[in-house]
Amino acid sequence: MTDQSASPIHTIAIVGGTGKEGKGLAYRWAKAGYRLLIGSRQAEKAQAAADELHLLLPENAVVEGMANPEAAASADLVVVTVPYAAHRDTFEMLIPFVQGKIVVDVTVPLVPPKVTKVQMPPAGSAAQEAQQILGEGVQVAAAFQNISYEHLLRDEPVECDVLVTGSSKAARAQVLELVKAANLVGWDAGPIENSVVVEGLTSILIGLNKQYGVQSAGVRITGIPCSGGSA
Ligand SMILES: NC(=O)c1ccc[n+]([C@@H]2O[C@H](COP(=O)([O-])OP(=O)(O)OC[C@H]3O[C@@H](n4cnc5c(N)ncnc54)[C@H](OP(=O)(O)O)[C@@H]3O)[C@@H](O)[C@H]2O)c1
Repeated sequence: MTDQSASPIHTIAIVGGTGKEGKGLAYRWAKAGYRLLIGSRQAEKAQAAADELHLLLPENAVVEGMANPEAAASADLVVVTVPYAAHRDTFEMLIPFVQGKIVVDVTVPLVPPKVTKVQMPPAGSAAQEAQQILGEGVQVAAAFQNISYEHLLRDEPVECDVLVTGSSKAARAQVLELVKAANLVGWDAGPIENSVVVEGLTSILIGLNKQYGVQSAGVRITGIPCSGGSA
């Protein structure tokens, strides 16, 4: 597997960045000083999302909107925030644009209408499916699947930790830097096979939200001094 995970990350593309989760992550990272490329199937929709974010961000923040392939091709690291129904097509489209890069899959393989029931794809998890599609030349990591978008466009602390899984320790370390930049607490949760647990946890959290009438139930790792995490 090509290891380019030690290269510094300046420019982040978010494929499906016009949606709720992608826009929230883009806001946090643009605020931290990264250059953000919002991707969409329609460049105009991406530009509108970028304009919307500029209204919330400091003047020097850099957020640009463009079509998904252009965003992925121009970025150092690519984050994917699309519904699971669009997962395979999106990753197949990305193949030529992300070779040698880290790709962070935020997708949860929810199967409506039973989104409170864990239903994993044959590959084992969405992230493993992404790795199978993209091949060995791409390092897939998975993160943020438990972080509800409601928190991300606000500046208050998020009471949910980020469990980062991925195909190499170096890739996970790069993603943990992004977790920290987003002002979240993150943990190295091990190899990409472990993403099944993290993705599955989201269905449990959605179920808790429904049962208790809240919007953002979360999880915390306890028993480790806070300095062990990424924030
Ligand atoms: N929402 C949350 O709080 C949350 C939390 C954790 C994880 N997640 C996961 O993050 C992912 C995105 O969630 P979201 O709530 O942001 O979703 P969303 O707002 O419904 O969709 C995100 C973007 O995906 C693109 N998209 C939609 N259908 C598509 C299709 N058929 N083909 C290609 N692109 C398509 C759209 O962008 P364009 O139309 O601009 O192309 C859309 O703006 C999901 O897998 C979700 O499970 C969400």
